[in-house]
Amino acid sequence: MRISIASAALVGMAFQAAAIDPLVIKGSKVFNSKTGEQFFAKGIDYQPDILSTNQIRDPLADKAACSRDLPFLKDLGINAIRVYQTEPFGNHDDCMKMLADAGIYVMLDLSTPTETIIRDSPAYDADLLGYYQRKIDAFGKYDNTFAFLAGNEVANAANNTDASAFVKAVVRDTKAYIKSKGLSIAVGYATNDDAAIRWQMQTYFDCGSDEERADFYGLNNYEWCGDKATFESSGYANIVKNYTDWNIPVFMTEYGCNAIRPRTFPEVAAIYGDKMTDIFSGGFVYEYVEETNNYGLVKLSGNSGSKTEDYDNFKKALAAVNPKGVKMSSYSPSGKEQNCPEISKDWIASDTLPPTPSNATCDCMMQSLSCVSKLKSVPTSDSELKTFGETVGNIFGTVCGSIDCGDVSSDAKAGKYGKYSGCNALQRVSWVMNAWYEHERRVDGSCDFDGFATVTSPELSSDAKCSDQKDSSNSDSNSSSGDSNSDGSEDTTSGTASIVASSALAVAAFVALL
Ligand SMILES: *[C@@H]1O[C@H](CO)[C@@H](O)[C@H](O)[C@H]1NC(C)=O
Ligand SMILES: *[C@@H]1O[C@H](CO)[C@@H](O)[C@H](O)[C@H]1NC(C)=O
Ligand SMILES: *[C@@H]1O[C@H](CO)[C@@H](O)[C@H](O)[C@H]1NC(C)=O
Ligand SMILES: *[C@@H]1O[C@H](CO)[C@@H](O)[C@H](O)[C@H]1NC(C)=O
Repeated sequence: MRISIASAALVGMAFQAAAIDPLVIKGSKVFNSKTGEQFFAKGIDYQPDILSTNQIRDPLADKAACSRDLPFLKDLGINAIRVYQTEPFGNHDDCMKMLADAGIYVMLDLSTPTETIIRDSPAYDADLLGYYQRKIDAFGKYDNTFAFLAGNEVANAANNTDASAFVKAVVRDTKAYIKSKGLSIAVGYATNDDAAIRWQMQTYFDCGSDEERADFYGLNNYEWCGDKATFESSGYANIVKNYTDWNIPVFMTEYGCNAIRPRTFPEVAAIYGDKMTDIFSGGFVYEYVEETNNYGLVKLSGNSGSKTEDYDNFKKALAAVNPKGVKMSSYSPSGKEQNCPEISKDWIASDTLPPTPSNATCDCMMQSLSCVSKLKSVPTSDSELKTFGETVGNIFGTVCGSIDCGDVSSDAKAGKYGKYSGCNALQRVSWVMNAWYEHERRVDGSCDFDGFATVTSPELSSDAKCSDQKDSSNSDSNSSSGDSNSDGSEDTTSGTASIVASSALAVAAFVALL
């Protein structure tokens, strides 16, 4: 008996290990690392609301939802899903295994609506990086996690393209973190299709050093509408032409115009056909679940789902394609990286990126201050936050008008980032309070800020050494050292949820301030 149990266990392990082969990028193509066959994502964008009462939407932590949806995904012939919102906590084992067993790879957005670079007031701090690191820890262990997206449609107009510098810093830092963990998972960016900034966006994410460049690029594109459109008239031909000779893979991270209904998905034949397969690695149709915007293939109702009229059309279109790839061994990449776009009226992101944010630097700076914010965390109620934002914000307008707040400010157009610009909102607030206090020669009342500030005795006599300090979690060496981030996946839902919420509010509060 013992022997048979042992061998059953071994068989089980062998099966699990062989369930899905990791993907690997070589040049501008994606391959199955074991078979060397080229991989084309036959993907779908997947973000159903979860069934449980959990406030946080993380479909990959919801076994019931995955069990409900898997038969549809298999029936559609899908081999990849893109999931927009997940959380580092919660248990993803069941869903990820179900997907792996069905041969389905996962592309995950790192950001959430609250944990993200904000396009109109971009800031990047160690709280945000730490959150992304915990997500990488939570999902990096699965063989079918094949890619992370460092951002989705962040810049959407020429006047907010500066946010791209912050997103690209996230690309750089998450790539370094993944490497330090001995993993090989690609990090890319998914762009919206805005003709005015399209070219600059795509070249920006593929320019600069290897450490900074995106591993792949994603286009959310809805140009091909209906059966009457062609490869040329849809605009696809021009798009594809512009990626000729690229050195990184390109995906349609969203497609599926629904202006003409029902959708018959003629673009599917193009995406997986001869005109595109040399350059594109497939795509993700938008989207699995029917929402008010009418893009869904499946209408969900509690524990069950039903097909919308687009469902069979998409299934048929996908079943008809047979993308022809090359073997990894016979492919020699010849593409090249891009030149960074020049600063212009259409582009305001320097190719000098914000520094890697460091808790050590910011904690050190805090220890050198004599006047600090009384608040230890940003208020969680809207009214308190408003009072905080308005009161401190008003005073700051005056303060930073008369003293230099460059140390806590960023100018991504000029590529200038203050040494504490990567500190979180409260830390930067304290820095400004202290700067004013010093400017006023510490006279009574100059560290008050309507009761929001308090005098303290600094632990450090100077901040001179602070900017040299790096967090161990960001260094390539000593990756397995027990830093406090690696246990993120064990956090309780409520605890982490409040951290998530407060750091987003912190960003929002600071936005109101300067
Ligand atoms: C910075 O500190 C915060 C709060 O402790 C933590 O959540 C985050 O993971 C840390 N970031 C890094 C990069 O270590
Ligand atoms: C940015 O440009 C858009 C138009 O592209 C305009 O609607 C918006 O007001 C501008 N924002 C700022 C802050 O100038
Ligand atoms: C293709 O690239 C050119 C610059 O080389 C750019 O002006 C044009 O907008 C791009 N077209 C598309 C469809 O991306
Ligand atoms: C890495 O860890 C070892 C032992 O834990 C230590 O001696 C060494 O200084 C560390 N190196 C770095 C770069 O932190």
